[in-house]
Amino acid sequence: MTMTVNILGSGAIGGLCAAGAQLSATPYRLWPRPGSTALNNVALLNGQSVSLEPPDCADKALTANDLLIVPLKVTQLKEALKTWRHKLPASTAVILLHNGMGGMELAAKYLPDNPVFLATTSHGALKTSATSIRYTGKGETMLGSSPCHTTRAPLNTHIAEMMNRCIGPVTWRDDIETALWQKLAVNCAINPLTALNNIPNGGLLAAQYAETIAAVCEEVCAVARACKIELEVNTITDLVFNVIERTAENFCSMHQDVINKRTTEIEGINGYIVKQAKKKGIDVPTNTLLYKAIKTL
Ligand code: PAF
Repeated sequence: MTMTVNILGSGAIGGLCAAGAQLSATPYRLWPRPGSTALNNVALLNGQSVSLEPPDCADKALTANDLLIVPLKVTQLKEALKTWRHKLPASTAVILLHNGMGGMELAAKYLPDNPVFLATTSHGALKTSATSIRYTGKGETMLGSSPCHTTRAPLNTHIAEMMNRCIGPVTWRDDIETALWQKLAVNCAINPLTALNNIPNGGLLAAQYAETIAAVCEEVCAVARACKIELEVNTITDLVFNVIERTAENFCSMHQDVINKRTTEIEGINGYIVKQAKKKGIDVPTNTLLYKAIKTL
């Protein structure tokens, strides 16, 4: 029996997941956040447009045969999980998909018995209106089970297949935490710097940013190591520049949040590094500077 994919929110990545579900004839429901408008249109890279199904707003509970994808900001996660835990049997699988860190701990608190998966994606999308998004760059998605939860092999394969239809290609990662830390380093370097300087990602190729990017990468690797995640500074710096080059024309999500006066994800990105560094007694002056500068905006 095919699972129904339930996607929370009206964000750009949620919209991409819905378009993927629709194009692969996978049953799905989009659940806009209370008070927000449902997405109805996704413009694809080839110019084709996908009209999304209007949401079935009946406030019904999910079943074991539902999958819940949560592509919300980590700052929106606590409220969402507190609401949704009453609508989920403990067997419903949940996938958290957000920039930055902190979701795993919230899911451990509010959904301790569900099979919970963590994902990170490099696909690019942006909101062009309250109801529309535009796909801006092809990427890939890493998926793994949350180290705080128990998931079983047959379910893992099925969830990877469902996710592949929505926002593939999907790579299963037994070390999903390492993948999340790698993405965290990318976001720590690109997001605040482009938002503060009002430039597209490619603007960071200018020589004036090299020193700051190198310092961010070094600090993130030091904190990761203290948290028992092995990241190598040169590999991470190369990864950051690789993403900058691949997404040179895009304005990152934090830049879009700042321009549109929305809450940014800084707490889960550089804020997470600053917090972990404090716990471990590590000095992270560059991340602290960027964190404070974004908070001041
Ligand atoms: O946050 C974003 O926009 C993206 O994660 C990334 C990789 C920085 C590309 O813009």
